[in-house]
Amino acid sequence: MKKEFSARPEALPEPMLRGGKVSWHEFVTAIPEPVFLVTGWKKNGKENACLQSWATFGGSGPDDFVCIMTKVSRHGHMYRSLKKTGVCVLNFPSHDIFDRCIKTIGNNAFETDEITAAGLTAERAAKVNAPRIKECFLNIECKFLWAHKLCGGCGDLAVAVKAVNICMDSDRYDQSRLGRYGKTGYQYQFHGPFNPETEEMTDWGGNAAVTFEPVDPIPWITK
Ligand SMILES: Cc1cc2nc3c(=O)[nH]c(=O)nc-3n(C[C@H](O)[C@H](O)[C@H](O)COP(=O)(O)O)c2cc1C
Repeated sequence: MKKEFSARPEALPEPMLRGGKVSWHEFVTAIPEPVFLVTGWKKNGKENACLQSWATFGGSGPDDFVCIMTKVSRHGHMYRSLKKTGVCVLNFPSHDIFDRCIKTIGNNAFETDEITAAGLTAERAAKVNAPRIKECFLNIECKFLWAHKLCGGCGDLAVAVKAVNICMDSDRYDQSRLGRYGKTGYQYQFHGPFNPETEEMTDWGGNAAVTFEPVDPIPWITK
């Protein structure tokens, strides 16, 4: 049975508060989004790495592959670096290196080389002036397109970047080998899942992350 949920509960459970920065609808829908690290140079020349998962990808033509990061702090190192250099790299980790990716959050000081401090390897991107992460199976090198205020009164921005180069592990783009999905492929994260009726949150004992397996294809019979 489907039910309507527009008014949020008066007292939100602690994990949903997060400094008031995440919508309660996000916990109810618990829609998974792809996890990647945005890398660039800080203005002091040190490596910056920022985990990002509010994002979507698409394009309007054969040469336009655009990523819209739907929630970027205008005060964070990532946005400052992107504005200054005009470029960044989107690095996609698989599950086995995610523990190191998380360490970029605790090694976020201005003076820190964040990729190296997290136990990952920084290498130079091929087509843009930014570092990229060697251990990530996919690196998308990008240039800055635009930034817009996400919504009235909020400090966050929606930021678009356009791909200029892709570097990808051959075992991932060969679907008969590791491929792009399952435990060795893309990772997704979500907030929740929250039951809006019982107000219970499912606790999986850590930050929620999932990987996907392909299912049997459904033929597109549109009529
Ligand atoms: C899995 C995961 C996904 C995240 N996604 C985002 C995101 O989409 N937008 C955001 O502003 N912060 C996100 N964060 C938090 C930032 O990664 C974190 O605040 C980071 O330290 C900011 O880095 P910066 O100061 O280099 O910009 C995420 C954190 C994790 C663990």
